[in-house]
Amino acid sequence: MAKATTPDWRKYVQFLAGSSYDPSLAIASPEFQVYDVRTSKGIQRVRSMLTHYEIALLYSAARDWYNGSGEIVDAGPLLGVGTRALAQGLADNPGVTRKDKRIWSFDLWLAAGLGHYTADRGQQTGSVFEDFLSVNEDFRNEIHSSPGDLMMMTWNPALPIEILFIDISKTLELNAWILRQWFPRLIPGRSLVLQQDYVYFAQWWVAATMEYFRDDFELLGHVFGATAYYLCRNRPSIEKINAFLGLGQQELMALLDRAIAGAPPSVAEVLRCGKAYALVPVDPAAAAATLAQVRLGVGHDDPVQNFSAITASNAEIVGNVLAAARSRFGT
Ligand SMILES: C[S@@+](CC[C@H](N)C(=O)[O-])C[C@H]1O[C@@H](n2cnc3c(N)ncnc32)[C@H](O)[C@@H]1O
Repeated sequence: MAKATTPDWRKYVQFLAGSSYDPSLAIASPEFQVYDVRTSKGIQRVRSMLTHYEIALLYSAARDWYNGSGEIVDAGPLLGVGTRALAQGLADNPGVTRKDKRIWSFDLWLAAGLGHYTADRGQQTGSVFEDFLSVNEDFRNEIHSSPGDLMMMTWNPALPIEILFIDISKTLELNAWILRQWFPRLIPGRSLVLQQDYVYFAQWWVAATMEYFRDDFELLGHVFGATAYYLCRNRPSIEKINAFLGLGQQELMALLDRAIAGAPPSVAEVLRCGKAYALVPVDPAAAAATLAQVRLGVGHDDPVQNFSAITASNAEIVGNVLAAARSRFGT
């Protein structure tokens, strides 16, 4: 099968694009994970856990790839910079005429537990939903927002999904929900799946999941901070999804081993941190042995594919978690 050609999203990142820079993306990044978002009421400064690369990828997906065959799912937008990139991309997309409520955003929209990203937000009620609405106020027609616990919601099976942006796979249960509700609605040969937690230790099941379904998705690339993105080649059947969800820890670890073996070196070291983290509660000695195999400083000439900084921070966090677990259980 011929490899998919996807649009060049790098042209929307000023410092990557050189002379081919396209300034249409109305989001500038004055510093890492800080964004100046242009709105009709002026510039709004807002944080996002996404990098400028990931923001540009979202913009490009909605502007240059999307053709309206399905919906755009925006799962876990928090303050909504990524949503804004999708909405701007949809607005700038010349080939799609029906744009109303094509972006479906899902989040708890609560400030608690999200560190400095929400430290100055939601002080009246603990909710950051108004912040999300404000960043996206010029695109209220394009966005359908569903505040609340995703686990309590359902997706209308009549709606196919063309862009599935996942930054919400924070538990195994949420991962299962995503697989049951959204994967069966993907369009073979058309749907993009962006897994924002792939190159990160804490959501290690994302790499195991994509490894299990590797014959159904073509990997298109890895993007610093933490994204792996894919083209859906076959829609996974519900039987296959249920078979995956029935796997035990050992089988999941075997899938992670396969993902590590097949990943580019800089990505593989982060996945190894994820495997060590997964092993902490079940087998601390195996977790320690896995962590000892992590090689620091494995980078890449292309900054987009260089995850050495993520490996360094992930290895440190996992080391601390492991030490705490060992002192608790005296192992
Ligand atoms: C890593 S944060 C997303 C960061 C965001 N994309 C950004 O640009 O900064 C994960 C998000 O998932 C949301 N989330 C976690 N569990 C959820 C659930 N059960 N239902 C709905 N949203 C959930 C959180 O509220 C949070 O905003």
